[in-house]
Amino acid sequence: MKKYICDICDYVYDPQIGDPDHGINPGTSFEDLPDDWECPLCGVGKDQFSETE
Ligand SMILES: [Fe+2]
Repeated sequence: MKKYICDICDYVYDPQIGDPDHGINPGTSFEDLPDDWECPLCGVGKDQFSETE
């Protein structure tokens, strides 16, 4: 699964880790995150993320 980086603060969403602090289990792909998921660091939405290595 691909990682995605926040264009604003450089936080990287790693699907292998998920976002457990916000109820996102490890193994959740970026595409499967809820539409209202926000960057845990700066609070922007998914549309502010770009695919990364
Ligand atoms: Fe961010």
